[in-house]
Formats: sequence, C-alpha cells, structure tokens
Amino acid sequence: MGTTTSLKGRVALVTGAGRERGIGSATALHLARAGAAVVVSAFGGLDVLVNNAGTGIGVGEFADVTDDRWELSWLINVMGPMRLSRAALAHLEKRDGSIVNVASTAGLAAEAGYGAYTVTKHAAVGLTRLLAAELGPRGIRVNAVAPGMIHTDLGAAEPELVAAATGATVEDATRSAVERIPVRRLGTPDDVAAAIAWLAQPGSYVSGAVLPVTGAMVAGLN
Ligand SMILES: NC(=O)c1ccc[n+]([C@@H]2O[C@H](COP(=O)([O-])OP(=O)(O)OC[C@H]3O[C@@H](n4cnc5c(N)ncnc54)[C@H](O)[C@@H]3O)[C@@H](O)[C@H]2O)c1
Repeated sequence: MGTTTSLKGRVALVTGAGRERGIGSATALHLARAGAAVVVSAFGGLDVLVNNAGTGIGVGEFADVTDDRWELSWLINVMGPMRLSRAALAHLEKRDGSIVNVASTAGLAAEAGYGAYTVTKHAAVGLTRLLAAELGPRGIRVNAVAPGMIHTDLGAAEPELVAAATGATVEDATRSAVERIPVRRLGTPDDVAAAIAWLAQPGSYVSGAVLPVTGAMVAGLN
C-alpha cells in the first residue's frame, strides 16, 4: 500500500504528531516520504487534514468513568476533529482535498471496559460518515482508519491495564493480546500511517470508508 502512494506537491496537517513512537509522527513522516509538505501556513494552503490526536483517558468500567473524563474524551476525540474539519473546509475544497480521521476498532464495536473511549470513537466514525455525505459535492473526500492494537504509548497501555486488572505479567498480557490477532503481531505506527497516506491520495474514489488496520483482529469489521 505504502510504496505506490503519491502525495507529491500536496500540503498536509497532522494533529497529535509530537510523540516519537505515535501514529501521528509516523503519519507525518510517511506523508512527507510520499511527497507531501507536512505543516500548514508556510505552504500557502491545505490538501490533507489528518485528525489523529486522541485520548484514552475515558477508558474504564462504565460506572467508574468520571464526568470530567467523559467531557475530556468528547472534547479531544470528537470536538477537536469537528472544529478542525470545519476550519479546514474552505482550504480543502479548492484543492481536491481530503480528511482522514483516526478512529479505532472501539468506534465500530463495543467491548466491556472501554467506557467513553468507545462512545467517542463511535462518534468519530459518525462524523466521518456525515462529512463524507455532505462534503462530497464540494470535492472533499472524508475517510477514517480504525486501528486495532498498535504499539504506541497509548496502545501499550492496554496489556498494562489487563495485567493490572488480572494480576498477570505485562509480558503474559501482551502475549495473549497477540494471540487475539490473526496475523500474530501488534500493529506498528507505520502500518497505520501507510493506510492513512493511501486514503489521502488525490483523485481517489474512496470516501465514507472506515478502514480497519487490525491484522484481522475482530475480523468481522473488515
Ligand atoms: N495505539 C493504538 O493501539 C490505537 C488504536 C486505535 C486507535 N488509536 C488512535 O490513534 C490516535 C493516535 O494515538 P497513538 O496510539 O499514536 O497515541 P499517542 O498517545 O502516542 O498519541 C496521541 C497524540 O494525541 C495528542 N493529544 C492528546 N490530547 C491532545 C489535545 N488535547 N490537544 C492536542 N493534542 C492532543 C498527544 O499529544 C499525542 O501526540 C488516537 O486518536 C488514538 O485514539 C490508537
């Protein structure tokens, strides 16, 4: 997927790209390698918006997640992408632009214990579909990726949470997480970045899609 992607001459903005081993920094590098100038303002326009910034602060049993965490999850996982998308509209429509939202498998299916993360990622999927339907006539394509278990600071937290809850070691929790993934490895930030770059290419007919990047985990989503 990654090798033939071309974003030559395009300008891209990626949110949440500050962490060294996160999906955002991998995406910024991937888009740059595919030819895009990554950062807005100095480049005089915008072709691609990647709403990657997100938080897992709302993960937890339903009854345990505080109002503060619900509100922060909503602000960061939904209002941020909504506001940035709205601010970017005028730029994107002049340039065959596209928006890629970073959702999650938690936006497509519910699993116990994921609290506000599940609800807000479902909303991010809804936002993707609404914008695709509404912005298509304005020449803007809108898609999302739904990463599964990706080895980042946020992704690494999951086996740690399971270990803390069950008394297993983090190594054992990681091993049993990998056993749930048919391709038998955790995803990397670059796996997700390649999918984002492919969705962001100009001239594509793909819009309104939510692409699982999961190694076939929860294969019914594919
Ligand atoms: N790692 C996984 O397994 C996984 C799985 C599914 C979805 N995701 C999604 O991928 C995206 C990137 O996550 P990641 O795994 O690279 O984790 P990460 O924690 O490394 O990255 C999250 C980024 O979002 C930024 N961010 C958080 N709150 C912010 C705020 N209020 N304002 C601005 N920036 C803010 C952080 O600074 C960070 O750069 C998130 O939307 C996450 O929900 C990750």
